[in-house]
Amino acid sequence: MPLTVTVSFSLNGTKVTSAVDVTESALDLLRRNFDLAGAKLACGEGECGACTVIVDGRSRNSCLMPAPDIDGRTVLTVEGLWTEQGIDPVQQAFIDEGAVQCGFCTPGMIMQARYLIDRNPNMSEEQIARGIEGNICRCTGYKKIIAAVAAASEGSTS
Ligand code: FES
Ligand code: FES
Repeated sequence: MPLTVTVSFSLNGTKVTSAVDVTESALDLLRRNFDLAGAKLACGEGECGACTVIVDGRSRNSCLMPAPDIDGRTVLTVEGLWTEQGIDPVQQAFIDEGAVQCGFCTPGMIMQARYLIDRNPNMSEEQIARGIEGNICRCTGYKKIIAAVAAASEGSTS
């Protein structure tokens, strides 16, 4: 019989509580228990960034984070970027720059971009490229993604 524990945490600004199987990942928890399908399971090994969410202000591969470790933390997923003012400027920049093709990498890429811009809104293209190194995109060739992150950075400093 699977062993479960109860976790309480802040999820996209709301306090939530859930029972989790101790063998599950935070990604499983977000997708299965909260129907948040933005973060994706691709490699499951911390290599692709498709599962990126922001935990306590830092980007994390949620596939590698044990679900019980989420207890007491503050978690932001791509679904939490939406506000009454609309979508996040990073999301808008991805649309404007045409930085989305199949879209599978996009939620993770956007969360990584949000994290990077919050840390440093004045990144060079090289710094952006280095910052998204852990996020694999098989479609776009990265040029438009880097342009989108740069555009969103400029927007955040104006
Ligand atoms: S699915 Fe988590 S890093 Fe690839
Ligand atoms: S848009 Fe298809 S993997 Fe990035």
